[in-house]
Amino acid sequence: MSVKIAVAGKGGVGKTTLSAALVRALAGIGERVLAVDADPNNCLGRALAFPEEALESITPLSEMKEMLAERAGKAEGGGFFALNPPIEDLLDEYRIQREGISLLVMGTVDEPGAGCVCPESAVLKALVRHLVSLEDLSLVMDMEAGLEHLGRGTARDVGALLIVTEPTVSSARTAARVARLAEGLGLRLPGVVVNKAASPEAKAKVEQYLDGLNVFAVLPADEAVAVSEVVPAEGPYVAAVEELRVRLSQWLAAEEG
Ligand SMILES: Nc1ncnc2c1ncn2[C@@H]1O[C@H](COP(=O)(O)OP(=O)(O)OP(=O)(O)O)[C@@H](O)[C@H]1O
Ligand SMILES: [Mg+2]
Repeated sequence: MSVKIAVAGKGGVGKTTLSAALVRALAGIGERVLAVDADPNNCLGRALAFPEEALESITPLSEMKEMLAERAGKAEGGGFFALNPPIEDLLDEYRIQREGISLLVMGTVDEPGAGCVCPESAVLKALVRHLVSLEDLSLVMDMEAGLEHLGRGTARDVGALLIVTEPTVSSARTAARVARLAEGLGLRLPGVVVNKAASPEAKAKVEQYLDGLNVFAVLPADEAVAVSEVVPAEGPYVAAVEELRVRLSQWLAAEEG
């Protein structure tokens, strides 16, 4: 069964690393996987070891204003745009691929401030909805840190959100805040992923600040992960993410009944 998940959490907690490792884990069991980088930093491709030249040549979709405006059908100076813009071909046109993994660099999708109806965001949201509807494709979306941008339209369309935290009070509090926001948006929450756990106490420490949120998985602090931009091929972190992948598939299957 394909997996569709977005990853959020405070800055630097390990969202991109987890997204990349999950993408690898899914590809490892033969899934077709699309990695969606919805963070303006454009780091997901690097974590997945896409060649630097390929990454440098990518313009995030969100910056292709002309293309987006054209798709939205908004005539220059006009005030109207299509609510169902044509987006089916964008995936094939703009993704790059490597070893069964596709990467689509979307950039920041949502404008700050609720209720943005700019054509760019309408097209990108339509694209995410389309991608999520593709049944034989797994999708992992690396979201940016800022809660204000949690991706009102986009994360909601993905449907399930993993929230990453470190074993720190501030990132756990942020996780709890993100969870409240996400619940308000109708997102399903498998739970919180405690990352960079250096001891068995990390989980209990974080739980105190999670407002009763469920801890879905604990991922170890792993020196090999810390020192490399590319997610390593094996080791304690990768093994824990593989367990997380299994549990996530089961959780999503149960949710979908
Ligand atoms: N389990 C881990 N063990 C050790 N280091 C880790 C672990 N997970 C992530 N890191 C390291 O933490 C740093 C931040 O990770 P990452 O870039 O994935 O975070 P992020 O949440 O995507 O950050 P940003 O908010 O800037 O996008 C990186 O240097 C990464 O290698
Ligand atoms: Mg990141």
